[in-house]
Amino acid sequence: MHPHLFPTITSFLIIVTVALIHCPTSLRADNENYLTCEAPFNCSSLVNLSYPFWTSNRPNYCGHPSFQLDCSSKVPQINITTMNYSVLEINNSLRTLRVARTDYLGKICPAALVNTTIDNNLFSYITSDDTNLTLYYDCPPHLATLPNLGFYQFNCSINSSTTFISYYTLTSTFLANGNLFGACNYWVNVPVLQSAFPTTATYDAVIAAIDSGFMLEWGANNSQCDTCLKAGGLCGSDPTTSTFACHCTNGTFASGCSTESTRSSRMREIIAVTGIAVAVLVAVCIIICYLRREQLSKEFIFRKTTRKNDENIKEFISNYGSLAPKQYSYSEIKKMTNSFIDKLGQGGYGGVYKGKLPDGKLVAVKVLSESKGNGEDFINEVASISRTSHVNIVTLLGFCYEKNKQALIYEFMPNGSLDKFIYHRESSATNCRLEWKTLYQIAVDIARGLEYLHRGCSTRILHFDIKPQNILLDKDFVPKISDFGLAKLCQRKDSIVSMLGMRGTVGYIAPEVFSRNFGGVSHKSDVYSYGMLVLEMVGGRKNFDVGMSNSSETYFPDWIYKDLEQGMDGRT
Ligand SMILES: *[C@@H]1O[C@H](CO)[C@@H](O)[C@H](O)[C@H]1NC(C)=O
Ligand SMILES: *[C@@H]1O[C@H](CO)[C@@H](O)[C@H](O)[C@H]1NC(C)=O
Ligand SMILES: *[C@@H]1O[C@H](CO)[C@@H](O)[C@H](O)[C@H]1NC(C)=O
Ligand SMILES: *[C@@H]1O[C@H](CO)[C@@H](O)[C@H](O)[C@H]1NC(C)=O
Ligand SMILES: *[C@@H]1O[C@H](CO)[C@@H](O)[C@H](O)[C@H]1NC(C)=O
Ligand SMILES: *[C@@H]1O[C@H](CO)[C@@H](O)[C@H](O)[C@H]1NC(C)=O
Ligand SMILES: *[C@@H]1O[C@H](CO)[C@@H](O)[C@H](O)[C@H]1NC(C)=O
Ligand SMILES: *[C@@H]1O[C@H](CO)[C@@H](O)[C@H](O)[C@H]1NC(C)=O
Ligand SMILES: *[C@@H]1O[C@H](CO)[C@@H](O)[C@H](O)[C@H]1NC(C)=O
Ligand SMILES: *[C@@H]1O[C@H](CO)[C@@H](O)[C@H](O)[C@H]1NC(C)=O
Ligand SMILES: *[C@@H]1O[C@H](CO)[C@@H](O)[C@H](O)[C@H]1NC(C)=O
Repeated sequence: MHPHLFPTITSFLIIVTVALIHCPTSLRADNENYLTCEAPFNCSSLVNLSYPFWTSNRPNYCGHPSFQLDCSSKVPQINITTMNYSVLEINNSLRTLRVARTDYLGKICPAALVNTTIDNNLFSYITSDDTNLTLYYDCPPHLATLPNLGFYQFNCSINSSTTFISYYTLTSTFLANGNLFGACNYWVNVPVLQSAFPTTATYDAVIAAIDSGFMLEWGANNSQCDTCLKAGGLCGSDPTTSTFACHCTNGTFASGCSTESTRSSRMREIIAVTGIAVAVLVAVCIIICYLRREQLSKEFIFRKTTRKNDENIKEFISNYGSLAPKQYSYSEIKKMTNSFIDKLGQGGYGGVYKGKLPDGKLVAVKVLSESKGNGEDFINEVASISRTSHVNIVTLLGFCYEKNKQALIYEFMPNGSLDKFIYHRESSATNCRLEWKTLYQIAVDIARGLEYLHRGCSTRILHFDIKPQNILLDKDFVPKISDFGLAKLCQRKDSIVSMLGMRGTVGYIAPEVFSRNFGGVSHKSDVYSYGMLVLEMVGGRKNFDVGMSNSSETYFPDWIYKDLEQGMDGRT
């Protein structure tokens, strides 16, 4: 994990934390319905009212559509099936209300003779409390001559035209005697409290009974309301559909506080999903960081170099900006090489494959083997080559640096490496030997490339692995030095470099590189390897053949040395 990533993750976590802390309040504030309906209201003489009641100065979603109260008069009014009723008492815990017919308030002769009709969907009489009081209108005058059987006789001017002789009777037995009262043209049932039913048939008793009203129980989605209240919500309605709605702190729902159906709950869902996604992302991030750290501590020995390498990569990318080789993902590499189908060669580092850039340019993709996990070779190569620009140094076009997957992308060299052209033994029909003139030009060009590496760059680059296999030839047989996996960068002023371990290839390696007894390692070590390379080019054979079993073959430099000692020309 790159150290610069930690501040990024830290600030990200802070933002997420702040967001989470602020979220509940913003969500709460989001549901204005809850805040608006939360406070109970007063209506004239009635206090502490709430659902299902509402009034003109309170939004209708706080109540039930059929329970609007008119608070403008002294006694709150409610309209039940087109009739005005005075609301005398409301008991929210029992869900009861006591109402009295407004048209009968203080009088016995209403403007119109209408029976009491309640909406049975919303209300029901409380039969233990209520009873009917019946008033008879437009009765024949002879009734007044009957013996007093508990009649109260009164005259009414209804429709302001006719005066009716009317009666009220205490005795229900007279009701059974339909004939007697059948003579009356109208009768009206007015519910009254049983406890207030008149004991005497007098005007005052009748008025008092009617004015005390009667009890109603309401059933405005009571079970849904109970569920809502239990969930911590407030009962209400959806004004657009006139259906029940539950206003919760975190949103308005059709029922309870968690089912989703309203727009605000869907919004909340989106917010919740986003929140969860962010949380998962953070968790994955943390886990990856953790695993990465674990792995790094396992690779304890390489930890320091790897970290340094990462810094190198970052540094050179920032130093070179757009000039830096392009970074590719492993999948892009795979696509480029058509899944590594065309192998150009194999080395200790891994394989080299032919590939094609998206722009059609042919490239050689060097994939570093996973076993060399610490990536030092890789960093060496990228850091070294990216500092160079010379006709005799291979051009790095891009690279891929992912965990355990590292690759370098070079310009494609159609003629392959020099070794194919200089050994008799391996020469075949395809690998013909080069002309002396060409060989000479190649030797000079390699020297130029080496000189450039040693003196031409701001940082001296020691290659440490100059050999025919690492000299690539383009279509015109112009050599290019490649494979900087063992290279070392050093300050110009350092002529001697300190080195741990051996670098190079047997047969080309300078003595001081494999044994400190021969002196300090410097750029001259590359020159030694170059010398051995030139010897091979001239001799047309390997200096040292690892696979050699024939004892007549000797170490080539020895052989030349002996030849020279005998005063003979090296090449006959
Ligand atoms: C309702 O009336 C009660 C008692 O009079 C009073 O305490 C309360 O503040 C009133 N509420 C409102 C909203 O006016
Ligand atoms: C108002 O009613 C609620 C329950 O509906 C109750 O908890 C509260 O004490 C009541 N307040 C007053 C002032 O009556
Ligand atoms: C009661 O309300 C209905 C509409 O809901 C209206 O048509 C009717 O006139 C009202 N009745 C009274 C007496 O206000
Ligand atoms: C019923 O009450 C409304 C106001 O709530 C009023 O405008 C209307 O005149 C009343 N109707 C009767 C018949 O009392
Ligand atoms: C509602 O009725 C219950 C039971 O009769 C009673 O205890 C309570 O005080 C009543 N509440 C109101 C506001 O009248
Ligand atoms: C009231 O209802 C009774 C039956 O319950 C009916 O005979 C009577 O005519 C009704 N009165 C009016 C004014 O509609
Ligand atoms: C009064 O009488 C009517 C029909 O005559 C009936 O529907 C109603 O339930 C009665 N009310 C009470 C409180 O008994
Ligand atoms: C009602 O009117 C009749 C005749 O119109 C009259 O005889 C009777 O005394 C009146 N009753 C009352 C209580 O005024
Ligand atoms: C009052 O007049 C209306 C028509 O204006 C009529 O329908 C109704 O029956 C009358 N009421 C009485 C009690 O006469
Ligand atoms: C109860 O709620 C449902 C759906 O919200 C609605 O269809 C029904 O009419 C309601 N019942 C009453 C009595 O308000
Ligand atoms: C809303 O909050 C309540 C508690 O007030 C909770 O039970 C419910 O699950 C929450 N609903 C959603 C959708 O988060």
